[in-house]
Amino acid sequence: VSGYWLDWLNLALRWAHVVAGIAWIGSSLYFNWVDGSLNDPPRDPESPGVRGDLWAVHGGGFYHSQKYLVAPDRLPEPLHWFKWEAYTTWITGFLLLVVLYYLDAEVYLIDPRVADLGAGTAVLVSLALLALAWLAYDGLCRMAPSETAILWIGAALVALASWGVCQLFSGRGAYIQIGAMLGTIMAANVFFVIIPGQRQMVTDLAAGRAPDPAPGLRGKQRSLHNNYLTLPAVFTMLSNHYASTFGHAWNWLVLLLLFAAGVLARHFLNLRHRAGSAPPVAIAAVVLLGVAAAVALPRSHRSAEPEAADGRPVDFADVQQVIAARCVQCHSATPSHPSSPVAPNGVAFDTPEQIRTWTERIYQRTVITPTMPAGNLTRMTDDERHLIARWHGSGYATSAGESQN
Ligand code: HEC
Repeated sequence: VSGYWLDWLNLALRWAHVVAGIAWIGSSLYFNWVDGSLNDPPRDPESPGVRGDLWAVHGGGFYHSQKYLVAPDRLPEPLHWFKWEAYTTWITGFLLLVVLYYLDAEVYLIDPRVADLGAGTAVLVSLALLALAWLAYDGLCRMAPSETAILWIGAALVALASWGVCQLFSGRGAYIQIGAMLGTIMAANVFFVIIPGQRQMVTDLAAGRAPDPAPGLRGKQRSLHNNYLTLPAVFTMLSNHYASTFGHAWNWLVLLLLFAAGVLARHFLNLRHRAGSAPPVAIAAVVLLGVAAAVALPRSHRSAEPEAADGRPVDFADVQQVIAARCVQCHSATPSHPSSPVAPNGVAFDTPEQIRTWTERIYQRTVITPTMPAGNLTRMTDDERHLIARWHGSGYATSAGESQN
């Protein structure tokens, strides 16, 4: 029963996380678009101090936005802030991390074939890395001499993090961990830098002082970093659908390539708003996506499936036995493993018919990208994976010596 209610808590948190994330990223994309599209100098300034303006039409009405540098003369009322989108996204995301990856660390976070961590250790390492990510990034922003330095040192740190985290956690857990580190950096940028800077400007205005431009510029820098981190972070959040990425032996490299593709895609959109179009940047993003797909290509697709070549017939009863021993704890109408109140993704292997429905995915998830059993909790052996590979090679025999195509 507890697993069942955790599942609904998971549902509610994920729903809230996605909605808050859309609101946060949506407003971030919107304001970056506004910044990139402003007429500079403004065409129709309505008051002094306006640095740029733009007209837009949306939802059946015309909108006139004006940007002030540094600020208008008097504090306008009411003044709208954008911060709860970011905070809510981080809080729901963190709780989701706890409900799924910490409470079920053996299933989702740990893979003994990667590193045989205890659940408590894995959770502590994960929490420490969240804090470390922010400290390293924030330190870099404060100390680096230029944006170029931040870009290259930051890229090196992301590469190091991607490689390191993939040596600690299951592929799936590692990708989410890195996504959580990015999300933490982004939310902390809002909480520790952008909002306090804005608060200081507002305080100055309210006191009748000319606001210092420095906090605004710092906020703008962090906001732009967040803008570039958005697409990579969103991919990591969706990555658990793609076992062919996180399940690959070079999963850290695949992630880096996808990261670079995301940053370039973002750069393309930013350039497009500002300077018209930049096709080479878009092409580079697509090429990187292709390179990632090539790197992640399973080895048996490159060579001619050597494991199937020995031609020994496979007895379906053996396959069934392996699945009964290693999979039905979770994949059943009545799962016995506490992490699965119902069959995961509705995939159950109780009957030969059900197993036959899933032959190709069983092969994919146990042999091509060996991400099942989850966390290898049921300790599937290499021999058993080899049996599944031979079963695949024989066209998924459904009884002794028989083969079906
Ligand atoms: C500890 C629980 C657990 C065990 C044991 C387990 N699985 Fe899974 N399985 C999951 C979870 C959770 C998901 C959904 C998340 C995902 O796709 O990674 C899943 C999803 C799947 C899917 C559907 C997703 C897709 O790729 O289409 C397949 C197929 C699958 N598992 C095969 C297997 C096989 C084969 C075994 C045994 C060798 C196995 N699983 C053992 C928990 C488990």
